[in-house]
Amino acid sequence: MSALEIVNIRKTYGDVETLKGIDIALESGEFLVLLGSSGCGKSTLLNIIAGLAEATSGDVRIGERSIIGVHPKDRDIAMVFQSYALYPNLTVHRNIGFGLEMRKVPAAERDRAVRDAARLLQIESLLERKPSQLSGGQRQRVAIGRALVRKPEVFLFDEPLSNLDAKLRMEMRTELKRLHQMLKTTVVYVTHDQIEAMTLATRIAVMRDGRIEQLGTPSEIYDRPATLYVATFVGAPPMNLLKVTVHSNALRIDGTETILPLPDDLGMPPKDGQKLIAGIRPEALRLVSSGLTIPAKCEVAELTGPELVVTAFVGTQRIMAALPPRTALQNGQQLSLSFDREAIHLFDAESGWRCS
Ligand SMILES: Nc1ncnc2c1ncn2[C@@H]1O[C@H](COP(=O)(O)OP(=O)(O)OP(=O)(O)O)[C@@H](O)[C@H]1O
Ligand SMILES: [Mg+2]
Repeated sequence: MSALEIVNIRKTYGDVETLKGIDIALESGEFLVLLGSSGCGKSTLLNIIAGLAEATSGDVRIGERSIIGVHPKDRDIAMVFQSYALYPNLTVHRNIGFGLEMRKVPAAERDRAVRDAARLLQIESLLERKPSQLSGGQRQRVAIGRALVRKPEVFLFDEPLSNLDAKLRMEMRTELKRLHQMLKTTVVYVTHDQIEAMTLATRIAVMRDGRIEQLGTPSEIYDRPATLYVATFVGAPPMNLLKVTVHSNALRIDGTETILPLPDDLGMPPKDGQKLIAGIRPEALRLVSSGLTIPAKCEVAELTGPELVVTAFVGTQRIMAALPPRTALQNGQQLSLSFDREAIHLFDAESGWRCS
């Protein structure tokens, strides 16, 4: 039995189909991240699970039970939004306990629940303050606390960290992970930040244009992206995509004489003359002249701190390499970028699907 099951959910606004048949089954305790660019339907799907929007067709099940038509407050789900809308004139204590107060939970029991949540979130010392006396990160913790005290079956988060600055976002990300490891509640979390997705998720659903393009663990998504879209969405700098043509059981990089081997996990051997896309991650490239190499000409080198990101030309195509920071390079220098055969991902140029 799945903790949360989404069955063939479709949503149409007017004559536009926003969700085109979404199927996901989550085990209890999973942390699912819905990852995709703006407008792909992430919030729509989350709102349908919460009961804040109605699906055009399909089913949402918690445990054995369909929750379509069940009022949001009776769904055993708590949601945390990007704008955490706290009540400005209530203390942190009352903000966290507000839902319980509305449901007439006795004061002593409410106080215990609020203090438990505050302890988990490390905001016990702030309980008597008003929201205006809190930092952004502290306010976000209060909003999470409000969801926590309900002890829901499922937590939904819609971009909860996007209002925070980069450093705070990273801290809160770690907090959320710690919290999930402790509570083991099932989570569905929406973001367009691939790092958040990679670090938090037990599984990621990469969404595009109302569909799930790939559903898998973070390492499946990173190591074996199913499509060009997924390959370039996850990873920074993004995966290099080189236009290649099949030639005598190998790949020739278009516009050059450079030959790459075929990956050895191909289902069907491609035909001579076939146009493909070879993907290689920037971090899979090294500056060594032995083994498999691609000759390239350095165009720009950018030091980010932990690495030197080099943009270079392979014929007329651009390639990026993430190299150790102390690599000495000149503009225009000839480079020999080496890589392992396993680092090559092969995609069909037309359909964008992985070739293995
Ligand atoms: N009430 C509505 N009426 C008509 N169209 C809508 C409505 N709500 C959402 N849409 C459309 O549905 C699509 C998906 O919207 P949704 O809010 O789910 O995207 P999202 O993936 O959450 O994007 P973002 O990352 O920008 O929040 C968008 O094209 C949006 O314009
Ligand atoms: Mg959204």
